Formats: sequence, C-alpha cells, structure tokens
Amino acid sequence: MTNLGVNIDHVATLRQARKTYEPDPVTAALMAEQGGADVITVHLREDRRHIQERDLRLLKETIFIKLNLEMSTAPEIVEIAFSLKPNQVTLVPERRQEVTTEGGLDVAVQKDTFKDLIKRFKENGILVSLFIDPEPLQIRSSEEVGAELVELHTGAYANAPTGGLRLAQLARLRQGALLARERGMLVNAGHGLTYHNVGPVVEELCAEELHIGHSIVSRAIFVGIKRAVEEMKELIYRHSLLAERINPKG
Ligand code: PXP
Repeated sequence: MTNLGVNIDHVATLRQARKTYEPDPVTAALMAEQGGADVITVHLREDRRHIQERDLRLLKETIFIKLNLEMSTAPEIVEIAFSLKPNQVTLVPERRQEVTTEGGLDVAVQKDTFKDLIKRFKENGILVSLFIDPEPLQIRSSEEVGAELVELHTGAYANAPTGGLRLAQLARLRQGALLARERGMLVNAGHGLTYHNVGPVVEELCAEELHIGHSIVSRAIFVGIKRAVEEMKELIYRHSLLAERINPKG
C-alpha cells in the first residue's frame, strides 16, 4: 500500500503573506495526521519563504507520524537537519527565483557531495531520499552515492499537455521505478500530483510514499484539511488495491 506524505508548505505560505501567526502549519499537520496522513513533509528553504525553524521544531515535538524534511545541500540547512533530526530528509535542488522545485537533482555531476552527505546522514540515523528525474543516469548515480531511497519527479507527467504525452511520461516513471528497485533502492514519487492524476501513478509505480502538497492544501480551503487528506487517502487506497490485483507482487 502506498503511503501519503502531505506537504504543508503552502499553509505557511499563507501565514507569511502577512507575517502573522495564522494559519499555523503545525495545526495543519496535526489535522492532516487525523485525516490519515502517513508522513508530514516541509521544505525549509534558504530564503525561509514559508516554513520557519520554529515550525520544524514544533512539528518534531508534536506529530506522531514520520517527518520528512525537504532541503538543499546548503551547509546552514544541513546543520539544522543534523540538530533537529527529522526521520527522513529529501534532498532537492533549490533556486531562489523558482516558484517551486523545478527539476530533479543532478546527482551525476556532484557525486562526491552527495556521497559525503548521505554517509553523514546515515551516521545520524536519518534516512535520505534524492529527488531526481526518472532518468537512468540519475538513478544509477543515486545508487553509486549510497542512496537507499529516491523520489521520482512526477512533474513532467502532471504537466503533460496531451493524453499521449502523459502516457509516455507514465511509462518513463514506471521504467525509472523498475531500474531503481533493480538497483536496490526504494521509490517515492511526487510533484504536481492532484486528485485527478494520482490514480495511474499509484497503479503503475507502487511507490512507498507519494508526496503531495498544492492540491491537498488547495482543496483544504473548501473542505478543511482533515477531509482533504481523507479524500486523497481514499483515492490512493482504492488505486493501491487495483494495483495489487493487476500485479500481485507490486
Ligand atoms: N516532492 C518534492 C521533492 C517537492 O519539492 C514538492 C514541492 O514542494 C512536492 C513533492 C509536492 O509538490 P506539489 O506541491 O506540486 O504537490
């Protein structure tokens, strides 16, 4: 069964729009937990545009489910991760001008950096995931630097303008997941997933976790975050059951 990681960054985005105390992402995390979230994901950006260190500290103290910290490899952020010790970190590329994380990591050109960081995270008991495009070169490089887990970027699938291109991106993701598993890594996926496009990803990838933010927080404005998470969990559950029927070992 695929687990759901709920990214609550956008609750903090709304708070930071006024630099006030509401809405509180920590409250959102607790309500998401009540809705059945398996993981809470936050991205502590170098420019602190949404999540703040205070949020991270309180999340670590209050939630019972897994905490996944998205982060760049900037030394300041790495030190925060070592001192706060989330259950999992997902390393992502970060550019200040971007609206959201745009592409996957180029692990192939920075192997030494990733090898060293992954080793240090492992020594600190923190599981590391690398956010990569479903490209054979990046998958093989992830294994070479010692990653046990990768998150495959689903953005190209989510943004495909036609049904045919979407199917092609789905096939690319499926091949990527197969290769990563052949190389002994676990597979997560995320970016751009919505209530409308998540089903095929659940069925084809049989991922450990899907990380979803914008669509759930958007829906939460109308139905509340607990309900929005319940609805996404229900979808993932139904499609996971289908996947098990299609591929009993999946
Ligand atoms: N996974 C990663 C690595 C991300 O950077 C993001 C965006 O913060 C997500 C998943 C969630 O993407 P979305 O908000 O489009 O669901």
